[in-house]
Amino acid sequence: MKRMLTVSLLVCVLVALGAGLVLQRTSRADEFTEQDAERWQKEFMVVAQKGRELWVSPKLGTNQVSCAQCHPNGANTHPETYPKFQKQLGRVIGLRDMINWCIMNPMEGKPLKLNDPNMVAIEAYLAYERRGVPLAPGKH
Ligand code: HEC
Repeated sequence: MKRMLTVSLLVCVLVALGAGLVLQRTSRADEFTEQDAERWQKEFMVVAQKGRELWVSPKLGTNQVSCAQCHPNGANTHPETYPKFQKQLGRVIGLRDMINWCIMNPMEGKPLKLNDPNMVAIEAYLAYERRGVPLAPGKH
């Protein structure tokens, strides 16, 4: 009896190991070439640059104010600390919620949809300005 238990335990372990190996093979990320990476980086920089243009323009609001008037540089907005509790909204929010809070309040504009290319562009610009800074979610 004891022996049968040992044998079935061994079988279980082997099956689990085998499944792990198969999973590891099939769940590997897609491979890409250096040219792919270069092209993707270029595409990213175009979007981040568009974010910078929006940052210094009054386009997102209705009162002729730009983000840059209050936050001269995107790095000052600490994107690496999101999600975090922000007292303006009274709960834990994502960076995009804070971006929309500023558009709606200080800039008296209409909030952007979360998948709006302008939202993605501002996020890209802010994250790029803080590249290399360790993530610190929740930090104040
Ligand atoms: C009239 C001034 C003003 C303008 C214009 C403004 N903001 Fe803000 N912003 C604030 C204030 C005030 C806060 C809250 C400060 C805090 O809690 O850190 C803030 C906070 C933020 C934060 C969070 C900062 C942090 O450290 O957590 C982000 C991100 C942000 N703003 C983005 C934007 C964007 C994007 C725009 C333009 C669309 C913008 N802001 C325009 C005043 C402004």
